[in-house]
Parts: sequence; C-alpha cells; structure tokens
Amino acid sequence: MIRTPFTELIGIEHPVVSAGMGGGHTGGELVGHVSEAGGLGVIGASFLPPEEVGRIVARAREITTKPIGINLLLHATEDRLDDVLSAKPAVLSTAWPRDDQDLGSIFARAHERGINVMHMVSRVQDAVIAAEAGANVIVAQGNEGGGHIGEIATSVIVRQVVRAVAPIPVLAAGGFVDGAGLAAALALGADGILLGTRFLATDEAPVEAAYKQAIVASNGDDTVVTTIADTLSGRDWPGAWARVRRTRFIEEWLGREPELRRRRDAVWAMLEAAEESDPGYGLIWIGQSAGLVDAILPAGEVVRQIATEAEDILRTRLPPLVSEST
Ligand SMILES: Cc1cc2nc3c(=O)[nH]c(=O)nc-3n(C[C@H](O)[C@H](O)[C@H](O)COP(=O)(O)O)c2cc1C
Repeated sequence: MIRTPFTELIGIEHPVVSAGMGGGHTGGELVGHVSEAGGLGVIGASFLPPEEVGRIVARAREITTKPIGINLLLHATEDRLDDVLSAKPAVLSTAWPRDDQDLGSIFARAHERGINVMHMVSRVQDAVIAAEAGANVIVAQGNEGGGHIGEIATSVIVRQVVRAVAPIPVLAAGGFVDGAGLAAALALGADGILLGTRFLATDEAPVEAAYKQAIVASNGDDTVVTTIADTLSGRDWPGAWARVRRTRFIEEWLGREPELRRRRDAVWAMLEAAEESDPGYGLIWIGQSAGLVDAILPAGEVVRQIATEAEDILRTRLPPLVSEST
C-alpha cells in the first residue's frame, strides 16, 4: 500500500482521485466506485441543478460509506457553496476562482464544518495564494490535461507547487492514467494523482459511448487548446484555455471566434441537433492522456490497477537502479 500525507489526511487507501468534472461528466456510480475501491471520487457539481447533485451524492453514498468529494468551479458557482457544504462531503474541491474572490473566507466556511479543501491551480503564484488562504491540499494541474487548463506542463508545475507550498500535500493532475504516472508523480514530490480523462473511459462514466470510444481511439495527438467552448457558452473563464478533441465542430470554428460570439444561440441549437445524429461531432473534452488509454474499464479496477502497478514499480523496478559507487 502506498501511504502519503494525502491518504493519511483524507483517510483513504490509495492516492488516486477522480476529478470532479462539471456539467454532468461525473455521476454517483463513478464517484461511488472510485471511493469504494479506496481512491477519492469527486462529484463535479458545477452547472447541475441542486436536486441533480443531491441525487448523485445519494447514489454515491449507496455504493460507499468511504470519503467522497464535491467540486465547484468557483468563478461561476460560489453561490452554490452552502448547498454543497450541507451535503457534508469529506472534501470540498475547488478550481478557477476570479481574482476578486476571497479564497480565505470560502475555505473557512468548509473548515467550520470539518471539511477539507482541495484547490486546483495551474500557476505557482495561485498555489501560494491558496496555501495562504488555508487550502489543505493543492492540485497542480498541467497543460496536458483535459478540460480547462493553464499553460505550464505538468512536470514543471508540480515541482514548482511542491517547492512553494511544502508541507501542504500536493496532487499532480494532467496526463496521468496508470501506475507509472503515479510513481512518476510521487518522484516529483506529489502525494498522489488526480485524473479526469482516464475516468471518463470507464463503465460508470455518465457520458456517451462515442465519448469513451474517442478516448480509447486517441493517440493523444487529436486534441487542441482553444477557447471555442467558452466563446460558445459565453462563460468568462478566468485564466484558462480548454483542451478538447479536434472534432469537426472545432475545425469549423477555429479562428472564427468573433463570428461564433455573434451567432451563439443559433450555433448552440445547430450543435445540439448535430450531436443527436453524430455524438462524435461536437465538444469532447479530453486530455493528451487519452493516448495512453486502451480500454474502457470499471472505475474501481482503474483505481486498483494504478495502485498495484505503482507499488510494483516502486518496489521492483526502481530500487535496483541505485547502486553503491565502486
Ligand atoms: C470533461 C472534463 C470536465 C472537467 N470539469 C472540471 C470541473 O468542473 N472542475 C475542475 O476542477 N476540473 C475539471 N476538469 C479538469 C480536471 O479536474 C483535471 O484537472 C484534468 O482532467 C486532469 O487531466 P487528465 O484529463 O489528463 O486526467 C475537467 C476535465 C474534463 C476532462
């Protein structure tokens, strides 16, 4: 078993977290099975009605009594904080605040209820701000990742954040799918990994079959970093690009963002209609890590495989590489 300050703090067996992915990309089945397998499953509550989040929490708790987390994208959903905290997750997971938001008071509201705060950053200066505001865990997310991302590669941002916020536990995110990834993250000084794309290609992920197949089929070179999705939704996402699959829809609109802003409503309607007949046409949020995903698996098996592989690498492959100099 791999024990780190993160697993000790949260009280879980494996330093493996499934990302809280908003807009219906996580469900009770996925989150429940990740936590039941000894990882930490996180519900993405953003852009879902409160009743829907309540149903997801209830389903996850039918599957497991172990810790679960709930994620909020702070820039868009601070008004949902009390609602989310009243569900009493073990972890409040947060990301992407605006500069004018007071992280200290947001985190304090979780701490008052005995809830740990895990905050994701893509720049080291944001990690320092979150640490000063009282975050219990920092997630350092690199540009390889799926969904909204910053500009710095995982190998760099993880080291920067570990150095800046020690001894606060740090999770590495962006580009991880397996035990080799976990072992590498631990070598970088992280205390675990957080994965989005890998958990979308699981039996329990509540996304279309075409979405899961796109991840399995990907070589990792079919993603693009763009703001098209935000131009379309009209959401002003502070500091973020987004990594999505280079679908036909994305190809059609790359470089035409002003026109997309003008025709937002019509394009939404067109996109929804097109996705009815071709679910692979539109917005498919995946990271470069898709290039390492070869099969759709049960979520619990993903957690267990990552832990077992990492243990094996740490026990068998790495120690013989070190010898006394002769
Ligand atoms: C479809 C999708 C939705 C996401 N939604 C959120 C979100 O609501 N909140 C959040 O903090 N991170 C979100 N993320 C980012 C993940 O937290 C994580 O940083 C990223 O998936 C890690 O890279 P990986 O995809 O290579 O594992 C999302 C990622 C994806 C792929």
